[in-house]
Amino acid sequence: MAIERTISMIKPDAVAKNVIGEIYARFEKVGLKIVAAKMLHLTKEQAEGFYAVHAERPFYADLVKFMTSGPVMVQVLEGENAIAANRDTMGATNPAEAAAGTIRADFAESIDANAVHGSDSPEAAKTEIAFFFEEGEICPRG
Ligand code: TYD
Repeated sequence: MAIERTISMIKPDAVAKNVIGEIYARFEKVGLKIVAAKMLHLTKEQAEGFYAVHAERPFYADLVKFMTSGPVMVQVLEGENAIAANRDTMGATNPAEAAAGTIRADFAESIDANAVHGSDSPEAAKTEIAFFFEEGEICPRG
């Protein structure tokens, strides 16, 4: 199986709930390693840029407002099939539809405040990692 890297972001709602550690434990439990991490409070420009793919969607303005409402915790996860493994661990976008035991089922309130982001393809992972991290900030752990 392929070793991949992906972006995970713990969104403002979950940071406010003080469950960063509990979410990290979910990643570690499925063998995903945190190889870079930073906390930051996104500017409007950063949130708009990160979610540019959704610029035409009706929820875009509210999404940007939510993503700038408090700090986020961003990490690069590394592991076998990391992109899919992270998405499986997150659960469905709408927490009402997320499988039991997933991060969104356990920590998310609604489809707009849904606790975590995860890259959804190798292309997105590449772009999103470069959006937040310099190569030298990432520490491969073998
Ligand atoms: P999307 O890329 O469809 O989901 P995911 O985060 O699971 O990859 O949507 C991006 C974010 O946009 C989603 O996490 C929350 C927000 N969003 C809404 O607020 N309302 C919606 O109806 C949808 C589809 C998404």
